[in-house]
Amino acid sequence: MPHFPKPAEGSWTEHYPELGTGDVSYQDSISPEWYELEREAVFGRTWLNVGRVEQLPKVGSYFTREIDAARTSIVVVRSSKDEVRAFHNICRHRGNKLVWNDFPAEETSGKCRQFTCKYHGWRYALDGHCRFVQQEDEFFDLDKSDYSLASVHADVWEGWIFVNLDPENTTSLREYLGELGKGIEGYPFDKLTQVHRYRAEVGSNWKLFIDAFTEFYHAPVLHAKQAVSDESRKLSKVGYEALAYGIDGPHGMVSSWGGMAPPKDLNMVKPIERVLRSGLFGPWDAPDIGLDELPTGLNPARHKSWGLDSYLFYPNFMVLIWKPNWVLTYHFWPTTYNTHVFEGTCYFAPPKTARDRLAQELAVVTFKEYSLQDGNTLEATQAMLESRTPVKSFPLNDQEILLRHLHKTTERYVNQYERQLEHATVRS
Ligand code: FES
Ligand SMILES: [Fe+2]
Repeated sequence: MPHFPKPAEGSWTEHYPELGTGDVSYQDSISPEWYELEREAVFGRTWLNVGRVEQLPKVGSYFTREIDAARTSIVVVRSSKDEVRAFHNICRHRGNKLVWNDFPAEETSGKCRQFTCKYHGWRYALDGHCRFVQQEDEFFDLDKSDYSLASVHADVWEGWIFVNLDPENTTSLREYLGELGKGIEGYPFDKLTQVHRYRAEVGSNWKLFIDAFTEFYHAPVLHAKQAVSDESRKLSKVGYEALAYGIDGPHGMVSSWGGMAPPKDLNMVKPIERVLRSGLFGPWDAPDIGLDELPTGLNPARHKSWGLDSYLFYPNFMVLIWKPNWVLTYHFWPTTYNTHVFEGTCYFAPPKTARDRLAQELAVVTFKEYSLQDGNTLEATQAMLESRTPVKSFPLNDQEILLRHLHKTTERYVNQYERQLEHATVRS
């Protein structure tokens, strides 16, 4: 169960004895063999967020996602007014990738009445049924109903579309997201339709970037130059302390201060922020999105200076909900053991004026600047973790509790998968 607020005794970390307090090995971030196990054990088994319902506005709207970690490409489609479905993106005739445009490895999106294979023209309805086979009588007693697209579990939670690539999965999405998911149900995500996206190829293990976003211990130091110099000196002296941490199953959250939207003293921030009334914490003038009361999970410490809550829905989906009514998400898609694709997406209420628009854009570029600073460090960390140094494990402090949890959770998934493999071998 999540635990809020700070335990009366001990630390956040000691409140979860299974996490331990010893040094943590980072071998899980530099081993190609371990990554191969994660592909099956984690990405092949958990619910993965692949988008939002606003990306599928009409029946027939679709998009593809390359999920390299799980060794597949999928097509996600609105098959009827109330249903979103997902399929492996493979033609049942001879295995051609079914939906793509100019380059087979690139993701695409659009709207269609049916999917037509580019190779020999087989056609599939939006619900995956094979509808047309070119020169059908040339085949040998072929029954089209045996050749539907291979479906993937898909479900929608609060407008977020998830898939689960494990054909044997029996855990519902809502159950999987647990108490932390439940605590933010009802947030008006659907009102935030002004979307800005970043995508970057990063030279580090996927977990290292999550590490950088689930602790703020680094913020006053690594991002020091983002504040005006007086403020930066103060921040690095005081350091950072979160308002609350919560862990439930594989997921975690950290609740944070937000004194910068707007700042107490305008001299704390840069001139452009003063002019545009915006910055990292978002536009200072929060739009009305019909949020009369915060969902119960937000601002768990009920602190008056609350600024944002960052959720990690395991394995690779982060949602940051900011006090001034906007949302930021991160996705971390592994491509090899030491590379991944990072996606950062900002969701705002549609701007009503040019000033609103500029305020949003300043938040978006500020976020990009911070991410680039984080990204540089990641590649430096990955390089040294992989070098032949005798340093193999690392002390994590109480503010790094979610990192400890992320690496432990991954180990748990991999161990469980290995045990299942052993069982299967013994039985056969
Ligand atoms: S591979 Fe798709 S129709 Fe032949
Ligand atoms: Fe950072």
